[in-house]
Amino acid sequence: MTSGPRAVLIGFMGSGKTTVGQQLARLLGVDWIDSDGEIERRSGRTIPEIFSADGEPAFRALEEDVVADLLAGERGVVSLGGGAVLSESTRQRLAGHNVIYLHVTAAQGFARVSGSKRPLLQAPDPAQVYADLLAERDPVYRDIATIVVDAQPHQRLVADEIISQLTTQEARQ
Ligand code: S3P
Repeated sequence: MTSGPRAVLIGFMGSGKTTVGQQLARLLGVDWIDSDGEIERRSGRTIPEIFSADGEPAFRALEEDVVADLLAGERGVVSLGGGAVLSESTRQRLAGHNVIYLHVTAAQGFARVSGSKRPLLQAPDPAQVYADLLAERDPVYRDIATIVVDAQPHQRLVADEIISQLTTQEARQ
């Protein structure tokens, strides 16, 4: 295991990377940080503002830099934006880390994010966009993850499950 975060949470929009990540960090007694929040802090703009002013490729470039810094510098729990794993260099950087995929079904996840300001969901049929993108990304998340958990239960139960699997995994290392 390379040094870096204790755990990195990945998964699609609405999978609970923020709530579960915060809960997990509390239980482990470590800090929590998320890439979207760090992008907004550094740029002084919201994610929707960055998408509409500069476009998605500019957002992805910022995201790649921020994620690289977080993976190198953080020791706690890091939650990544749902599309961060689209970057080949980010996928390479994730190798050797504890990467937790929070899996949701399209129905579960979309119910949590419908009506939100997420730029990718500002479409005539956001439920369809959500389902299509999730289907496309699910194999990518699974490929990178060292642990896959069902993100449907209450955040506390999901965090407990992650800790149990992390402990088992770390005992084997
Ligand atoms: C995105 C997910 C969002 C945010 C941006 C793009 C994506 O983060 O980074 O809107 O491509 O899936 P969350 O997964 O935290 O919603």
